[in-house]
Amino acid sequence: MKFYIHTFGCQMNKCDSEHIAGLLLSAGIQPSNSPKECDIIIINTCAVRKKPEEKLYSLLGRLDSLRKKKNVFIGVVGCVAQLYRSKLLDKNPFIDFVIGPDNYWQIPRIIPTQDEEKFISTSWSRDWHEISYAQTIRESRISGYISIMEGCNNFCSYCVVPFTRGREKFRAIENILSEVKDLANKGYKEIQLLGQNVNSYRDPKTGKDISILLKEADLIDGIEWIRFITSHPKNFTIDIGIAMKETKKVCHQLHLPVQSGSTSVLERMNRGYTREEYLKKIETLRNLMPDISLSTDIIVGFPGETEHEFQETLSILKKVRFTNIFSFRYSPRPLTSASKNKDSVSFEDKKRRLIELQALQKKIQMETNKSFVGRIIKVLCLGKSKRDPHVYSGRNEGYQVVNFKSKNDVIGQSVNVHITSYGPYSLFGQIAQ
Ligand code: SAH
Ligand code: SF4
Ligand code: F3S
Repeated sequence: MKFYIHTFGCQMNKCDSEHIAGLLLSAGIQPSNSPKECDIIIINTCAVRKKPEEKLYSLLGRLDSLRKKKNVFIGVVGCVAQLYRSKLLDKNPFIDFVIGPDNYWQIPRIIPTQDEEKFISTSWSRDWHEISYAQTIRESRISGYISIMEGCNNFCSYCVVPFTRGREKFRAIENILSEVKDLANKGYKEIQLLGQNVNSYRDPKTGKDISILLKEADLIDGIEWIRFITSHPKNFTIDIGIAMKETKKVCHQLHLPVQSGSTSVLERMNRGYTREEYLKKIETLRNLMPDISLSTDIIVGFPGETEHEFQETLSILKKVRFTNIFSFRYSPRPLTSASKNKDSVSFEDKKRRLIELQALQKKIQMETNKSFVGRIIKVLCLGKSKRDPHVYSGRNEGYQVVNFKSKNDVIGQSVNVHITSYGPYSLFGQIAQ
């Protein structure tokens, strides 16, 4: 028997899919790269915006036709599965199972049997279900995801995640550190500690927080770079900044989603900080680590966002000069408190604001990237360019994409790259002699 997993969404979902693949492998089912050739197809879904949800429905349409030609067992898992539960089965009767993010540990029990009965498992439990990582099939053999917490208690007014991932729960620190050691033994060079709100991490037994976790992970030999994502500005404490500065391996890089540069919008978003408080944290971080690379998420067109409030978002981009941003048009999501208000900013205005925002950010990135020309920087090589066999691709400490020429195969190695040119989204260079 063979399986195929299609993954939408964030790093948490990618990490979950790697574990689901491992669980299936341990049940004797082999991975396949082709949905047409396999017996089990799993779609790991994302509900955060309308777009990935719509993509799921068009994929389900194609699977319905495949199902008519071939006997294939189809499962929907992840955030949309959790959100709509049995309603997904009512609309798509060909689906065989629906499993929410808190129930993947049940997969080896249900899938190999392929019962006639439909299987739905979307309950939440307060305890962390430790999933064995012995057989996890990771996409990369160089950089590995490690989940440290699940869920979110913040209820930002636009966000569906608290309804799909449940309340916060934390993984035991000894299990996290064992997985870091396991990856180090397997030759991994980088780890990314994951959670919706990693700053609120507390070891369930000892209460050790993320700053202590970072310091303990820093002591593990073999790993060169440690990253953690996602940080909520409200919970980002000075202790975390100090841990980043004082450790050797924790990268001077932080994704700190601001969402808007306007205090009034932030208040309506229920973010728990003002523009000034956010800027103060950035100043503190830059005082601690002048070389820190910062990225963020922005939503444009939140209900009631005025032109003036949008201008404040543009001005925060000019002030902070992020290395990179992820920007989205607001879309109302089920169950969220913002969805009860009118989606008042027109599609045209959202579109125009997004274009303006991205154009400004592109200009900032061109200026930042230009300043790298002539420098020699450390790059972790993650793979090869598909177009040119002599061009390799990796990331620097600031998490920027760096493409570079090398005569030797350096995949999986940290190398020094001499930067010779740049674009808005990547740097280009050659191995330094
Ligand atoms: N836990 C993370 C991110 C969660 S979702 C955090 O707190 O930052 C990733 C990003 O999607 C968010 O940061 C936000 O910018 C965007 N997003 C979430 N809900 C959205 C919505 N309803 N419309 C548009 N963008 C949204
Ligand atoms: Fe969503 Fe806010 Fe929680 Fe992030 S912190 S997952 S944006 S509710
Ligand atoms: Fe999407 Fe769920 Fe991640 S909604 S962004 S896959 S937490």
